[in-house]
Amino acid sequence: MTEFPVAAVAVIVVAAGSGSRLGRDQPKAFVPLHDRSILEHALTGVFGLNEPAQVIVMAPEAQLADARDIAGRVAGPAAGYLDVVAGGDTRQASVARGLARVRAGVTVVLVHDAARALAPAAQLDAVVAAVRATGHGIVPGLPVVDTIKSVDAAATILGTVDRSQLSAVQTPQGFPRSMLDGAFAWAATLPAADAQDLTDDAALVAAAGNTVSVIPGDPLAFKVTTAWDLRRAELLLGDAAGAPASADPRVGTGLDVHAFDDTSDLWLAGLHWPGERGLSGHSDGDAAVHAICDALLAAAGLGDIGQVFGTADPRLTDAHGEVFLTETLRLVTEAGYRVGNVTVQIIGNRPKLAPRRVEAQELLAGILHAPVSVSATTTDALGFTGRGEGIAALATALLMPQAAPPEHPTDPRLN
Ligand code: CTP
Ligand code: MG
Repeated sequence: MTEFPVAAVAVIVVAAGSGSRLGRDQPKAFVPLHDRSILEHALTGVFGLNEPAQVIVMAPEAQLADARDIAGRVAGPAAGYLDVVAGGDTRQASVARGLARVRAGVTVVLVHDAARALAPAAQLDAVVAAVRATGHGIVPGLPVVDTIKSVDAAATILGTVDRSQLSAVQTPQGFPRSMLDGAFAWAATLPAADAQDLTDDAALVAAAGNTVSVIPGDPLAFKVTTAWDLRRAELLLGDAAGAPASADPRVGTGLDVHAFDDTSDLWLAGLHWPGERGLSGHSDGDAAVHAICDALLAAAGLGDIGQVFGTADPRLTDAHGEVFLTETLRLVTEAGYRVGNVTVQIIGNRPKLAPRRVEAQELLAGILHAPVSVSATTTDALGFTGRGEGIAALATALLMPQAAPPEHPTDPRLN
């Protein structure tokens, strides 16, 4: 009995190149990108496949231990599906060595460049689905947008290539296992003079006489080849870090309580209430504003007001609501959100809110640039609020993501 279901898909991740065009002092797959290595990013996409898959990582001989560490970390509980193997001198040789390690039960083999660090998992799923649907070799590709010229050795233009017939292809490239096995076996029989070092697998499979078709690729699956590509990947990840993880709205709640303090003025819901009993606190004790801040911070996943502001900050001594709300709004915006709306309910015997409700709502809405509803209730003489010992406030905040994350194509439309 096996511990895991047998995988029907294998992904050969080629990461054994030196990265000469990137020009770093370590092989390309191990070069840091944002917070992790290029290989770790690529494997995160690979292990995001919708079904269990054998993952065969082809690494340079000298980096095998490193590659095992990285791949083991990404695989986590799926480590049983992982093999880390030394690659060959050319990309094609690395793929051939990987192919020899494909396990029994696998019917579809994907070959994927580790250098395409940001290729989304959906692209791998789409290739698997299209291989199954067609029985062909499948490569993702993008239309060529530039006008392409053919030139001679002296850079004189010979002609313009019809770009409607061109596709800039990416990886993963997927094949029925028997087709890829057959093509590599055929290539091994070629006399050395006829053998070419091909830079992708589709070329070899097609040269062996098989059909290979293109499905829509994803701009994120670009290959990190030069320093410029690495910079582009850094910028994309930087943006992603600043944007919310999901396009869904988020809610948060906040509760605050302050005791009455007869020696201070009352500040509540951002307003000064002359003649009313004040509230104790390091700041002005505005329970309604503090509850709103907590709700906003919670919705953004930024902790709570105590953690963000701390009572030790001398700027907050006697600070009024606007100081807290403005800073909270800045943090929430920086985390990639705008405020959808906020409600806050004040719980206590006094002050009577009704005459100043609109004034409070307009003040708070003006600071947060979003609708704010303020309501109030008593607790029927029960509890600390009913006994007139203090005021509580309960807030709910809705946050909206500022910008939708990039969409990845999921339907493998054949073209
Ligand atoms: N590759 C490999 N084994 C090789 C050569 C390349 O596994 N002997 C892998 C690379 O690690 C890379 C992918 O094939 O993930 C695509 O190759 P390329 O972008 O050309 O990478 P390098 O060959 O490493 O870079 P360069 O050509 O700039 O030296
Ligand atoms: Mg290369």
